[in-house]
Amino acid sequence: MNRRTFIQTAVAATAAATVLKPFLMRAQGQGKKYRFGFSQVTVVEPWRVQFNKDMKKEADKHPELELIITDGQDKTEKQVADVENLIQQGVDVLLISPKESAGLTGVTLKAVDAGIPVIVLDRNVNTDKYTQFIGGDNVAIGRAAGEYAVKLLGGPGNAKGNIVELWGGMGTQPAHDRHDGFEEFVGKEPGIKSLLKPIDTDWKQPKGYDVMSTALKEFDKIDLVYGHNDPVAYGAYLAAKDAGREKEIKFLGIDALPNEGVTWVAKGQLTATFLYPTPGAEGIRQGLKIVKGEKVEKKIVLPTKTIDASNANEVLKENGLA
Ligand code: FRU
Repeated sequence: MNRRTFIQTAVAATAAATVLKPFLMRAQGQGKKYRFGFSQVTVVEPWRVQFNKDMKKEADKHPELELIITDGQDKTEKQVADVENLIQQGVDVLLISPKESAGLTGVTLKAVDAGIPVIVLDRNVNTDKYTQFIGGDNVAIGRAAGEYAVKLLGGPGNAKGNIVELWGGMGTQPAHDRHDGFEEFVGKEPGIKSLLKPIDTDWKQPKGYDVMSTALKEFDKIDLVYGHNDPVAYGAYLAAKDAGREKEIKFLGIDALPNEGVTWVAKGQLTATFLYPTPGAEGIRQGLKIVKGEKVEKKIVLPTKTIDASNANEVLKENGLA
């Protein structure tokens, strides 16, 4: 090879390497063998932030895994577009925690039809064609809250009081299940009255505050608030506090994040909260089983636990917060 041909060849090889490099890196995934795409509904709620953290922490234990997390910005249309995008990228596993059931069903089926294994997390969709569902048992959580409420209000057969129930998102199964489980206990008590028609709070603290402020103006006697999550229960507590009535009312919430619900229980602001663990870590573990060809269960139910004054400090200590 003369000098000129050598230089030409070298230049061509360098150019090819420059052009090919991103593809090669991508093909080799920079050492990544699997790509998981997770479509998260939002990152504005603390429980969602924790959920993403749990997922990333587990994913970081597996250098062969690349994890892409998208943020649906709390909008169905945005989340649908996110999932479309992940399908186009050809992820090996799609994980989705939907804003609401109906609006995310179509695109979930699209992923299934594209041959992508789908793991549905926390809130469900209106099909069971996915590979797996992982989440808490919201009926069981509702029952635990209902039983607790009845006890607080005088015990089975004797319970008396006015209840404000603050719904989460009405288009989601967890809200309906949390209501139904609660009703199984509270509905049996003739002395208990539920004051409000269902109002959608979209799981948000400010909405919990607003609905409670209106209820406080309308009703002189409120004995217990059942919030479908801790943020709405805490919003209601703040509304009652602003009205000078927080001492007359017991507040129950759900989620039990250490730095939120559990802390509010420890401070005596909420009476109890019921654990709703995030499915982040389990989602990664199950996804890895799927890509390795292992068989997985259709449904994984995560455990719950009641946290009240008797154990809140212990939970805070376990989490390095007390
Ligand atoms: C967060 C959240 C949680 C709740 C869950 C129900 O978006 O509202 O507080 O437990 O979703 O799906």
